[in-house]
Amino acid sequence: MKQEYSPVTDQHRIATDELNPPPRLLLGPGPSNAHPRVLRALATPQVGHLDPHFLALMADIQELLRYAWQTDNDMTIPVSGTGSAAMEATVANLLEPGDRILIGINGYFGTRLHDMAQRYGAEVVVLHKSWGEVFTAAELRAALEKHRPAVLALVHAETSTGACQPLAEAGALCREFDCLLLADTVTSLGGVPLFLDNWQVDAAYSGSQKCLSCPPGIAPLTFGPRAVEKIKRRKTTVANWYLDMSLVGKYWGAERTYHHTAPISMNYALREALRLVAQEGLQQRWQRHAENSRLLQQGLQDMGLSCHVEEQYRLPVLVTVRVPDGVEAKSVTSRLLQEYNIEIGNGLGELAGKVWRIGLMGHNSRRENVVLLLQALREIVGSR
Ligand SMILES: Cc1ncc(COP(=O)(O)O)c(C=O)c1O
Repeated sequence: MKQEYSPVTDQHRIATDELNPPPRLLLGPGPSNAHPRVLRALATPQVGHLDPHFLALMADIQELLRYAWQTDNDMTIPVSGTGSAAMEATVANLLEPGDRILIGINGYFGTRLHDMAQRYGAEVVVLHKSWGEVFTAAELRAALEKHRPAVLALVHAETSTGACQPLAEAGALCREFDCLLLADTVTSLGGVPLFLDNWQVDAAYSGSQKCLSCPPGIAPLTFGPRAVEKIKRRKTTVANWYLDMSLVGKYWGAERTYHHTAPISMNYALREALRLVAQEGLQQRWQRHAENSRLLQQGLQDMGLSCHVEEQYRLPVLVTVRVPDGVEAKSVTSRLLQEYNIEIGNGLGELAGKVWRIGLMGHNSRRENVVLLLQALREIVGSR
């Protein structure tokens, strides 16, 4: 029998121009510009997600991620999604309803972890610090002693404040209190010294669009042996099917069982981004980020501008600069964008209107970009 269809309506059939975005230099809190080699990898013809060629490439990604994180963790997997997906995966898998988690909140992303942990039924206790400060080992010890949590979550590189939370002592403390250490390394991976195994970090996640110079859309996650053990001992199933890493792990592990269709092109892109990290070498890469950040900070100081975070804890990859009195923060960022094609970030939350956020991440951490930004800022803000 012939199927009758109603007539097609042209109501939403708009005519649009071919994609032609402006050539922005992304010097904000992320995304940063993808490396040209990463963009070429994105445009490489696809194979299937169970093709032997792809399976080999998956192993490359896992091994290169272990290098970038300085870990031997078996369970090292890129989550299909952005950094928040990997963040949620760690929370969903590590916590069971009623588990106590202690979260260090000294910026925007600690608050996001708090929101997620609550949704999964955890008992959340919070340690607060003002935005731009970090937690001392003594403060962490006191909080661990008082609350005895199952997990301590800290944001290594707080993109909202520009502060770098020391993790080395936190790892040892967590062992002492039989607690897992979960670290947000979204903005630090590939740009800031990070030694997951030496620092005894049990679980970490990251993003692709910051210091890895890859577009957003794929998010590395890693679980160490103690985290895997906790997951194995779960009494309840993970309340999020898509982010159940025991299921996803069967695709990324020996079984190669289909879970969801891996985003092939994003995995190509991540592999190329990680190849760039390995080719440059972590020491050299961290040093490049530090040097260009010093150049930026010197230039800002010469203009009479000051940084928000104490030098010792200042992130090289994301510098928060205090907005001088009498200057309207957003008018500067919007002039930079419109007149110079340069994106920097405005302040978030407690720091809204008070700071600008300048990112020198991955491929964008280059002297020429620092010089260009300083020149543009000088023209807009003027020498003070
Ligand atoms: C420290 C930190 N954690 C988590 C996220 C969330 O990542 P995404 O925006 O890719 O979901 C971000 C994003 O900027 C971040 O900077």
